[in-house]
Amino acid sequence: MTTATTTALHQTDTDNTPAAAFAIREERAHDIAARETLLDVCFGVGRNARTCQRLRDGRVPAQGLAFSAMHQGRLVGSVRLWNVDAGDRRALVLGPLAVDASVRALGIGAALMNHAIAAAKALGHGAIILLGDEPYYARFGFAAAKAEGLSLPGPFERHRLLGLELRPGALNHAIGLIVPNGAAETYPAADQVAPVACAA
Ligand SMILES: CC(C)(COP(=O)(O)OP(=O)(O)OC[C@H]1O[C@@H](n2cnc3c(N)ncnc32)[C@H](O)[C@@H]1OP(=O)(O)O)[C@@H](O)C(=O)NCCC(=O)NCCS
Repeated sequence: MTTATTTALHQTDTDNTPAAAFAIREERAHDIAARETLLDVCFGVGRNARTCQRLRDGRVPAQGLAFSAMHQGRLVGSVRLWNVDAGDRRALVLGPLAVDASVRALGIGAALMNHAIAAAKALGHGAIILLGDEPYYARFGFAAAKAEGLSLPGPFERHRLLGLELRPGALNHAIGLIVPNGAAETYPAADQVAPVACAA
């Protein structure tokens, strides 16, 4: 497997000023707080009750496949991909994809998607699945027909389950439940956590 490109600089088509420039790079540890705030704003604080979250609970994203969009030093976009088994296939599930409302329709969502898809392909993955609006994701090649035999571990809208083959035929006749198979999240051992001083 090759390593994904870490940073891509973009200038939007709609605005040639430096203010419209943004960069896509791999997510860093210090992005987490800003990413979580962005996701809360975009999807609401109840977002963790959604079915797709069951594929992410207690897991880390697929190696090299978590990206942040940066604009004027600020995190304004995020996308991550997760290892799953889709019936008898290995695949990735993409999500959440989010872009800050203040910088939408500048192409940041498309840049995150194109960067993530290219990186997943370069890393040797065969297919990506997501739950989302086909009118948006069709432009990247996602189609409901590619995921018609698959289901999620909870309630979901069938027409929003979409697939993209990175390797031709990777989702052909794929049937069954999508379940997580990513590496488990690890927490620092108790003896490695710095003590917290208490005032009272
Ligand atoms: C969806 C989202 C990531 C797009 O980000 P963005 O940076 O604005 O995307 P782009 O600039 O690449 O594309 C914008 C285009 O997509 C269209 N678009 C955005 N959401 C769409 C949707 N749900 N269905 C169809 N088209 C959509 C816009 O109307 C715009 O169209 P235009 O190019 O004709 O003007 C962003 O709107 C967002 O974060 N939304 C809230 C969270 C969300 O719904 N995430 C996706 C589900 S996981």
